[in-house]
Amino acid sequence: MAESSTLANEETRTPQQRKGGLEGVVAATTSISNVDGEAGHLVYRGYDIHDLAHTTTFEEIAYLLWFGHLPTRAELAGLQASLKEQRHLPAGVLALLRNLPADTSPMDALRTAVSAWGMYSHVRGAPTVEQAIALTGCFPLILTTFHRLRQGLEPLEPRADLGHTANYLYLLTGQEPKAEHVKGLDAYLVMLADHSMNASTFTARIVASTTSDLASAVVAAICALKGPLHGGAADKSYEMLEAIGSAENAEPWIRATLARGGRLMGFGHRAYKTTDPRAEELREMARHADPAGFAFARRVEELALAILEETKPGRRLYTNVDFYSAVLLNSVGIPVDLFTPTFAVSRVAGWTAHILEQTANNRLIRPLAEYTGPDHRAFVALAQR
Ligand code: COA
Repeated sequence: MAESSTLANEETRTPQQRKGGLEGVVAATTSISNVDGEAGHLVYRGYDIHDLAHTTTFEEIAYLLWFGHLPTRAELAGLQASLKEQRHLPAGVLALLRNLPADTSPMDALRTAVSAWGMYSHVRGAPTVEQAIALTGCFPLILTTFHRLRQGLEPLEPRADLGHTANYLYLLTGQEPKAEHVKGLDAYLVMLADHSMNASTFTARIVASTTSDLASAVVAAICALKGPLHGGAADKSYEMLEAIGSAENAEPWIRATLARGGRLMGFGHRAYKTTDPRAEELREMARHADPAGFAFARRVEELALAILEETKPGRRLYTNVDFYSAVLLNSVGIPVDLFTPTFAVSRVAGWTAHILEQTANNRLIRPLAEYTGPDHRAFVALAQR
């Protein structure tokens, strides 16, 4: 029988389906966060991100994501204490971090250490909120330990007098963190903590749906976050600004990049067809945190938006969260290759909230694929081939 291709549904597919990437597909129900990409709105448990960005702390938001309501003072104090108790690494994880190859990237170190953390912490069975708190509490420890060791420095002792964000900065630099840096980084961690069905959260939910364990689901999420089309874009946005170098070079650089089919990092979004609300907040924060860096980034942004509109009309490409994240994280002293891992320090709260939500009402996530290969091929044994 003649070989044939199975593309029977080609005409019935919507343009979104033809483009692939599950665009427009509702893959889960969730009460954790919602993105309205047309209006440029993001809510966590019903609260607008603009209301939360500067008025809450990362610990409050983690509580909100895990438990569904904003904490009372007593509930917040309880969570802060629980997170502080987790500021240590199992000896096996520390030994592993001491023995990584010299050229290990921070995201690879984080992925490897979280996997080891799952084993040494005996994370088994159905995911629990206690496991979520434990892992979130030790994420900064993993990264700062890695960062100190790679510089030939010993890890520092966590400080019980500092909150989650301030302690992260302290362990990273060994210096008393400045109040404005803590505030800026905390607002960043608040805004990045969850974002509906992004690629890494979807990955975490798929793994959780197989009734695998929490550490495994988070390792998978880290792997997805690492890519430059997702969380890896923050580092790449910074590298883009460095490569452009000067306001005069911005226009030729952008045009040349687009002309050879390249992408401008920190622009475009699958969900947002207008400015990402987090980018609006981060733009204002960057303006105050680093006026010179901001002025240059703003010029690049204005040109990028105009040239994208000219060269890619109708695609509705706007500034996304990663563009000004790069300016802000640099201004608070985060090394460039720790931008994406710092995103993970925040997003682990959202990942684990989704893992818990998936587990509470689980059904295996197992979609279909449309087969486009040949059918009815006549088999020929090896001896006859
Ligand atoms: N720079 C240049 N062109 C871009 C672009 C960008 N940052 N983002 C999208 N486009 C263009 C594509 O080239 C494509 O053009 P075409 O119609 O001529 O082929 C069109 O816009 C649609 O792109 P597509 O890849 O289908 O959109 P998507 O929804 O899959 O992409 C992203 C979403 C985020 C992957 C994409 O915008 C991107 O790669 N951005 C840069 C990386 C980034 O900042 N990621 C962080 C996201 S928070």
